[in-house]
Amino acid sequence: MRLPALQLAPIASLVLALSTTGCLCANVQDEVSTEQYDEVFTDEALAELQMGSMTDAERCEAACQQLAMGDETGTGGQGDYDKLLSCEAVGGDDALPTWDPAQTQVTVVCEVEYRSLGFCTGRRPLGHRELAFVGCSRGAWFAEQAYLERASIGAFVELADWLERRGAPSDLVERCREAAADEVVHGDRMAALAEREGFEVPPPRAEPGGDELLAIALHNAVEGCVRESFGALLGAHQARACEDAELRELFARIADDELRHGQLAWDLDAWLLEQLDERERVQVESARIDALAELSRLTWRNAERTPSGLGWPSPELAASMAERFADSVRGARSIAA
Ligand SMILES: [Fe+2]
Ligand SMILES: [Fe+2]
Repeated sequence: MRLPALQLAPIASLVLALSTTGCLCANVQDEVSTEQYDEVFTDEALAELQMGSMTDAERCEAACQQLAMGDETGTGGQGDYDKLLSCEAVGGDDALPTWDPAQTQVTVVCEVEYRSLGFCTGRRPLGHRELAFVGCSRGAWFAEQAYLERASIGAFVELADWLERRGAPSDLVERCREAAADEVVHGDRMAALAEREGFEVPPPRAEPGGDELLAIALHNAVEGCVRESFGALLGAHQARACEDAELRELFARIADDELRHGQLAWDLDAWLLEQLDERERVQVESARIDALAELSRLTWRNAERTPSGLGWPSPELAASMAERFADSVRGARSIAA
C-alpha cells in the first residue's frame, strides 16, 4: 500500500517540546578514521556482484560497500563510508578474469575512510565530500556550516534539474529551486560569521552523483527525510536557546526554511516511491530505518563537538530529541501503513 507523505510539523512540535539545557564542547580533534574490510564472496552474494554491466572497479566497490554496510556476507561493518581508499579483488581461479561468472569465490580487500558527519541545516548532494574543520571554536563551526549550506545549493539545483527531466510535478521542481535560493542565503550568512572569526570557507566539493531513480530516492530518504528534517529541528532549538540575539534571529530564519525543506523531502519521497517497484521501495524504507537508528549516536557525537553558546542541546538532550524524532517518524509511518 502506498503511504501518504509524512507531515513534519506535528513531529517538530513533539521533539521541540523536550526541555532545553546548556551546551557542551568536547575536544574532539580527529574526525577522520579508516577501516579495512576483507571478505570472501561466494554463492548468491558473489552471483549478485557478477551480474550486470559494471567495470571491475565498480564491482569491487559494490562489494566493499556491502561489507561496510554489514551485509550478510560480512561480519558487520561500520556503515556507509565517505571515501574508498583502495579496493582489490582476487578470484579463486586465477586462470579466469576476477569477476568471470565461472568464478566460485572472489576475495575482496578494501580500505575506506570515515569522516564524522556533522548535522547541517541543509542537504548534502549525492557524492558530497565531507570536510573536517578541526577544532571546537565558533569560527570552525560557522565555517563547517557554511560549507555544508553551500553544498546544499548544488544539491537542490541538481535535484530540481533531475526532477524536471523526469517529468515530476512542477510544484516539486519549483520548491527545490526555492530551497536552493534559501540555501544561498544560509551559506552567505554562515560564511560571513566564519570570516568575521578568521575562517575561510572553501567551495563545496562533490564527486559526480548518480542520477538513477533508486539512488535519488535512497539519498532523499536518508539525507532529506532524516538528516535534513532533523537538522531543521536542531536549528529551531538553537533559535530558542542561543545566547546571542543576532544568531537567534539567523537560526530562526534558517529553521523556518529548513522545516519547509524537510517537508519537501517527505513530499518528494511520496512521489519517488510511486515511481519505484516494490523491491526498490523496501530498499528505500530500509535505508531510512537504518538512518533513523543511527541518528541518536550521530547527534550525540555532534553535540559533543559543537562549541558552547550556539544553542545546541547537550549530548543527552540532543540524543533524546533524535530518539523522539525517530520514534515519531516510525510511529507515523506505521500508522499510515
Ligand atoms: Fe540550509
Ligand atoms: Fe535545507
